[in-house]
Amino acid sequence: MGAPPDASHVFYRKLNRSLPLIVRGEGVYLYDDAGKRYLDACGGAMVASVGHGVRDIADAIASQAAKVAYINGTMFTNEPVERLADALVRLSPAGIEKAYFLSSGSEAVEAALKLARQYHVERGEPERRIVIARTPGYHGNTLLALSASARPHYRQLFDPWLVDVRMIDAPYPYRAGDGDRSPAMTGDALEAAIVAAGPNTVAAFIAEPIGGSSTGAAVPPASYYARVREICDRYGVLFIADEVLCGVGRTGKFFALEHFTDARGAAITPDIITLGKGLNGGYVPLSAMLARQSLFDAMKKSKLGGLMHAQTYSQHPVAAAAGLATLRYIQEHELVERAARLGPRLLSQLGALMDVGDGAALVGDVRGIGLLAGVELVADRASKRPFERGLKVVERLMDAALARGLIVWPNTGHADGTNGDLVLIAPPLVVSESQIDELAVLLRDSLADVARDIAALRS
Ligand SMILES: Cc1ncc(COP(=O)(O)O)c(C=O)c1O
Repeated sequence: MGAPPDASHVFYRKLNRSLPLIVRGEGVYLYDDAGKRYLDACGGAMVASVGHGVRDIADAIASQAAKVAYINGTMFTNEPVERLADALVRLSPAGIEKAYFLSSGSEAVEAALKLARQYHVERGEPERRIVIARTPGYHGNTLLALSASARPHYRQLFDPWLVDVRMIDAPYPYRAGDGDRSPAMTGDALEAAIVAAGPNTVAAFIAEPIGGSSTGAAVPPASYYARVREICDRYGVLFIADEVLCGVGRTGKFFALEHFTDARGAAITPDIITLGKGLNGGYVPLSAMLARQSLFDAMKKSKLGGLMHAQTYSQHPVAAAAGLATLRYIQEHELVERAARLGPRLLSQLGALMDVGDGAALVGDVRGIGLLAGVELVADRASKRPFERGLKVVERLMDAALARGLIVWPNTGHADGTNGDLVLIAPPLVVSESQIDELAVLLRDSLADVARDIAALRS
């Protein structure tokens, strides 16, 4: 097993635990140096879309690194980025014509927000600076992306450095007070926030089309994004769809926004889309910002010569080669269709956790779409009362699951900013039916471990 934090020179991300040393991965499984097997039920951080250890992708990376590993995106272009941009634009809703590649989801969000701001300035509306985002919601950890993220415990220390982003309630069916009629669920909350801010001061609205870790795979009402599009159009506000977590097939469509249409059944086109995580299955860091032609045209006319965002590793050939190989793998193995087909099995197996096993009473709700599911834990199912944060229920569940060889993704704070425990289940899209069943059994047993822990604490 891996070293405790003090025995290593690595500045670990978690300093209160010893991290197992992973030496190998294959499909949905990871193996540590002691030979223990883990079922990766969340693809690391909803990243490992095509599974671990895919030879084709490793080969594509090696081959591109041997040809040319790095060029600077201000001086040259390269074949993998050209081809990946073509492929993503082909998959995108009509109107999206350009792709800008970066390394992380946070960077893609930073670039998207800067593009939105620069677009308005270039068009002679410099007063448009306000961004509207949703709570719960998450868009990354660099300071602009963090400003748009409703994660009090991430923000607290850095609050003096964060910019003014106005928050509206996210559509979160499980906790929506008035159900479908609440302003958060209809989209009215967005219009009210734009009007309150002063419509000509608002630059952009950013939202995860289907909830990621923050709302645990919550799916907004069918009419929500048509209304968002209509409101944004009415007030000249750009709509940024953050598909970093839910994009690239995770929900059973390539883009999660494809689950939503307008009243005539037409697709909804955002102004900017961000992608990351599953885009290259985690093989090397890669994210993308996709934009409408009109935004690109405004940058082209700019006296500044383009978008004012500069990162050494943008348009990286090896990262793009990994992205291309991942897309090819997803298409050849029909993994988007597979996510749509296996989603109901995942949801029904997880749904059974509410009824079966000694930990059933901890499960308040199970929801999701495709191979993205959330299991929300509550102290009382009838009232939906969350556990008090001090009990660290989701951390206990994560530890119990790890001990049993199951990896799940935790989230906290979604119920009221502080309390709230849920796990996100997002296995690699190559997961089989029997692996879904295995995952559900491991989670059921881990929940029972936690229920026993909590009972012991209370006795
Ligand atoms: C929706 C969403 N956007 C952006 C990000 C930030 O991505 P990264 O951690 O790669 O910077 C995340 C990360 O979890 C995310 O879930």
